[in-house]
Amino acid sequence: MTSANRYMACCIVIWFMMQHVYAQTKLIQHIKARTHLSLNGRWNYIIDPYEMGFYDYRREPFENSASGTGGFYDNKKAVDNELVEYDFDLSPTLNVPADWNSQSDQLTFYEGTIWYRNKFNASPQAGKKYLLYFGAANYEAHVYLNGKKVGMHKGGFTPFHFDVTDKLQEGENFVVVKVDNTRKKDEIPTINTDWWNYGGLTRDVLLAELPSSYIQDYKIQLAKDDPQWIEGYVQMSDSTSNQSIEINITDAGIKTSLKTDAHGRVNFRWPAKKLTLWSPENPHLYDVTLIAHGEELQDRIGFRTIAVQGHDILLNGKSIFFRGISIHDENPLIPGRLRGEGDMRMMLQWAKELGCNYVRLAHYPHNESMLRLADEMGLLVWAEVPVYWTISWTNPQTFQNASQQLGDLITRDKNRASVAVWSIGNETPLSDERLDFMTKLAKQVRQQDSTRLVAAALEVHREGKTVIVNDVLANALDLASFNEYGGWYWGGDPSELASYSFDIAFDKPVVITEFGGDALGGFHADEHTRWSEEYQEALYKHQLAMLQKIDKLRGMTPWILTDFRSPRRQHPHFQDFWNRKGLLSETGKKKKAFYVLQDFYRQVKTKYE
Ligand code: GCU
Repeated sequence: MTSANRYMACCIVIWFMMQHVYAQTKLIQHIKARTHLSLNGRWNYIIDPYEMGFYDYRREPFENSASGTGGFYDNKKAVDNELVEYDFDLSPTLNVPADWNSQSDQLTFYEGTIWYRNKFNASPQAGKKYLLYFGAANYEAHVYLNGKKVGMHKGGFTPFHFDVTDKLQEGENFVVVKVDNTRKKDEIPTINTDWWNYGGLTRDVLLAELPSSYIQDYKIQLAKDDPQWIEGYVQMSDSTSNQSIEINITDAGIKTSLKTDAHGRVNFRWPAKKLTLWSPENPHLYDVTLIAHGEELQDRIGFRTIAVQGHDILLNGKSIFFRGISIHDENPLIPGRLRGEGDMRMMLQWAKELGCNYVRLAHYPHNESMLRLADEMGLLVWAEVPVYWTISWTNPQTFQNASQQLGDLITRDKNRASVAVWSIGNETPLSDERLDFMTKLAKQVRQQDSTRLVAAALEVHREGKTVIVNDVLANALDLASFNEYGGWYWGGDPSELASYSFDIAFDKPVVITEFGGDALGGFHADEHTRWSEEYQEALYKHQLAMLQKIDKLRGMTPWILTDFRSPRRQHPHFQDFWNRKGLLSETGKKKKAFYVLQDFYRQVKTKYE
């Protein structure tokens, strides 16, 4: 065999090995309903800005060495005076799930690699499958179990997991994760965002135990074109026929036994007899049970329809006004990613108090628990991927990344009644390449889930006193939705907004995805003094007066529910690395503008619905 053939053969072998190592399993639906061991808690960690635990001193990955060892993932202890320059047992700990920035002053601004290590006991059973699951890790994660690589994942806000059945051992196991939140131009999001780059294992980590063939995915929703029918599918992990699946929705009079086809899949369509439809006023959820190979899985699913018709948005066939507010995944009171259901309930309760029936979960996929809470509390949701601002439109890997994150978001949340809108991005600058990139994402949404609306925060510009909305991306979308900051970034004093008008080139429902201005909570002055609560209050009054002139207006999500941290906000007194557009301050105090919007939402119920 010539050296060239030997090289080629070697490449092929490595390729197959990589496929196995990186065999990230297809996303599982409703992981928390499965038998699982939580790995949440205190994990030891090592800060590694130069990635000493991954590369040797010639910047070669230890993984590529003949032994594949030498990295921190070996979790080595020095013996007999051996030189080992790390020790997890003697290292400090971080809470998981949580970002690292909010857990230590030395990590507030940290961008780079941190190694996490956790030890746990297991007793793997024959005939079972074991998935190591991460709710999210921001931004790039390399995962090792008992010193062996199980795979890597990119994307800071979507779940991922690996089949570790062949690496799990009886008794003590150790899992090591390299998480790197370094911002990079060609990633999703890119290097330029207006939110804190919270790094780490920010959502649940768990080890799931499953039958050898398990219920991998399912969709159970009202049919798009005929709400008299419930339709969907179940996909088993094994693509084999004749697998028995039982689905019971007792309160809907549904109890069925099904068999998979040769792809391990079964599609179904049942008459929806006298269902109580889900709505914000009556967020009715049905108990759904799915049974296969001895696994019994419980979910709670609401049934409703969402559609656009001319200028109207129809919920269950009736026109609705999206009384919304934008929300970041951050607890203002204890700065950091929302840490659990209590944090999430607090945010959504504030939205309910504001009079909302709708929230924009900006600018990236939020925690799955947030969507399940929205189902329960009766809030419609605009869900979004972080295709934000100046993305590398011509890079194929960047598009693949965006498409993967969008697909994973839809896979995860497609059974949530609260999700009404899939958003493919925010304020992306006009170009042919951007239009192509975004139009493909819009098409992907329609192929993957035709039952919901697809939208984006479009580009707008001004000509004199006219706000022009003619971003042709709207032609691929269901809403004419855009951000505008009259009275803050342009237009002079808010009182001048009365002289502005809108020229919206699309015959679609108009949803204002952002407007607002900063106010330092507790700073009071006259309504013409920027940064005061009075200025923000006046801005909301004048904005609402201006926006009501738009006859196709069918909703809004002003920016934003609470102050949030951003590395772009340097004013030492008014900002101090906080974006102050919140209607509540970082102490949870309502600013005067909160009551302006709350009053408007009381009125709008009658006017538009
Ligand atoms: C933009 C952007 C937000 C940002 C806001 C602001 O429209 O979408 O992410 O925080 O404006 O400038 O406060």
